[in-house]
Amino acid sequence: WPLLLIIAVAAYLVGSLSTGVITARLLGLPDPRSAGSGNPGATNVLRLGGKKAAIVTLVGDLLKGLAPVIVAGLAVDGASHQAAMGAAGLFAFLGHLYPVFFGFKGGKGVATAAGAILAMAPLIGLFAIVGWLSTAWATRYSSLSALFAAVVAATLATFIAPPFIALAISLMSLLLILRHHGNIRRLMRGEEPRIGEKSDSSI
Ligand code: G3P
Repeated sequence: WPLLLIIAVAAYLVGSLSTGVITARLLGLPDPRSAGSGNPGATNVLRLGGKKAAIVTLVGDLLKGLAPVIVAGLAVDGASHQAAMGAAGLFAFLGHLYPVFFGFKGGKGVATAAGAILAMAPLIGLFAIVGWLSTAWATRYSSLSALFAAVVAATLATFIAPPFIALAISLMSLLLILRHHGNIRRLMRGEEPRIGEKSDSSI
C-alpha cells in the first residue's frame, strides 16, 4: 500500500505538468486555457499556435500517461503489478484534468489517456487510436473521435483486460466523456469546430 500511494502521488504530479500551457508559454502563444475552446490540449493548441506546437503538446501529454505506467509496472511485480499500473495511469490522467501546478484547471485527458492505455493494455490502446483516427478521418471532429475512442477502450477493457486495468480504463473513459460536455452540446447544435478550425466558444 505505501508503494501504491507513492506511485499514485508521483503519477499525479507528472500528469499535472500541462504540456499545452508550458509549450504555449515557451513559444509566446496565447494561454490555451483562456483562448479558443479554453482547453490546454493539442486540438486547441493547433487552433492557437499551429502544427509544431500541437505535436509537442500531443507527444508530451501522451508520454506523461505512458511513462508512469511503465515505471509502475517495472517497480511492482507480483499480486499488485496490475493495480500499480492501473493506479499510475489513472492518477497521471487525474493530474492532467486537475493539475496542482496550474490552479487545477486542466484538460480533457485524451492524449494522456491514450498514453496510459497504450502502456497498460497495448492492444486496447491501438484499437482506441484506430477508432480515433478513423472517426477523425471521416468527420474532422477531434472531440467526437475522442468520445468514440473512449467507448471503444472501455468496452474492450470490460471484456479483455484484467480487473484493475479494466477499472482504470473505464474510470478514465467516463471522466473523459464527462469533460467533453461542452463539446457534446456543440456537436448536437452543429457548432463544434472541425480539426484546425478556429473557434471562440468556451468550454
Ligand atoms: O483533446 C480534446 C478534444 O477532444 C477536444 O478539444 O479544444 O476542441 O475542446 P477542444
